[in-house]
Amino acid sequence: MAVIVHLSCLLALLVPGLAQGIKNSLRVQDPGRRPLELKEVFTLFQIQYNRSYLNPAEHARRLDIFARNLARAQQLQEEDLGTAEFGVTPFSDLTEEEFDQLYGNQRTAGKAPNVDRKVGSDEWVESVPQTCDWRKKPGAISSVKYQKNCMCCWAMAAAGNIEAHWNIKYKQSVEVSVQELIDCDRCGDGCRGGFVWDAFITVLNNSGLASEKDYPFQGEARKHKCQAKKHKKVAWIQDFIMLSDNEQSIARYLATEGPITVTINKILLQQYQQGVIRATRTTCDPQHVDHAVLLVGFGKTKSVEGRQAKTVSSQSHRRHSTPYWILKNSWGADWGEKGYFRLHRGSNACGITKYPLTARVNQPVKKQHQVTCPP
Ligand SMILES: *[C@@H]1O[C@H](CO)[C@@H](O)[C@H](O)[C@H]1NC(C)=O
Ligand SMILES: *[C@@H]1O[C@H](CO)[C@@H](O)[C@H](O)[C@H]1NC(C)=O
Repeated sequence: MAVIVHLSCLLALLVPGLAQGIKNSLRVQDPGRRPLELKEVFTLFQIQYNRSYLNPAEHARRLDIFARNLARAQQLQEEDLGTAEFGVTPFSDLTEEEFDQLYGNQRTAGKAPNVDRKVGSDEWVESVPQTCDWRKKPGAISSVKYQKNCMCCWAMAAAGNIEAHWNIKYKQSVEVSVQELIDCDRCGDGCRGGFVWDAFITVLNNSGLASEKDYPFQGEARKHKCQAKKHKKVAWIQDFIMLSDNEQSIARYLATEGPITVTINKILLQQYQQGVIRATRTTCDPQHVDHAVLLVGFGKTKSVEGRQAKTVSSQSHRRHSTPYWILKNSWGADWGEKGYFRLHRGSNACGITKYPLTARVNQPVKKQHQVTCPP
């Protein structure tokens, strides 16, 4: 843990403008400290994330990619209008293409199934609470998962949604099988990508979902034979719904019913460390959504939170508190804010309102579901 703190402090010295606040406080304690060389920062990165490379050529190539990612992080830092900090992350030695291959979702062009956008009208606006965080309810939100070379964010987000609603409705904590969603997926493409609704369709078709313990996650880009019939079911859903694209009514549903899945543009996340990302349509295209995550809460920063304003123009944004969404990612707990991240609320940040989707859990019913893949 000590290394983590150390690394971000050193980075502040290396890249002027990155995390100014830390830089300034460090200067006071430690005058005249020599800025770190890029190579030294890279070595610290390798230690922190246990990276080794096959040969010197590969090491040199990764160092080069690392340098480009840090430059990119600095650019994102300058563009961000919120309180987000960008810099070294567990993915700093990957090119954007590799990152997409490992953590993206190739099937971005598919069509949503014909589900009506239910729920949500502006009548509710007044009764939305100020804050909401389902992580505070014991047993509702399971541990942060790691996709492990498998593009299954859609399955992990769906599993998290079902787990939370099962806990809220039946006061039982369950952890459901992501591998069953991948193996038995007939609409999507397993570890090569899919949509959250593919996962819900699989749960309906399989008449429930096994536990993670009985049918554990394998990862590593493989789809195995569907073993749904071998394991006993621990959670069931009756259907799934798409919410309206109004952020107030999404907040209201989230606060009263439970976490929902959303699909966002992940372009800013490879370099993200912490804070509230406030993007524009240019820096994070809301039409290009390629990553599914679980929305678990919302709140507002205190007006003092966040890094110091760098420029006069961005200062005005920070005098006021920033409303945000809290999202659970599936890239491990050493990414972001212990595996979570925050996006600005109220500006359709990174396309968060495009596909707000949730399952509705229910004890099993006798009648067999008729399900088909979306067109
Ligand atoms: C570090 O990585 C090596 C393989 O690259 C692995 O054998 C080892 O268990 C890892 N150590 C930790 C602490 O994760
Ligand atoms: C439903 O499950 C059956 C096997 O039980 C499978 O043949 C079929 O492709 C599945 N359909 C969907 C839409 O998942």
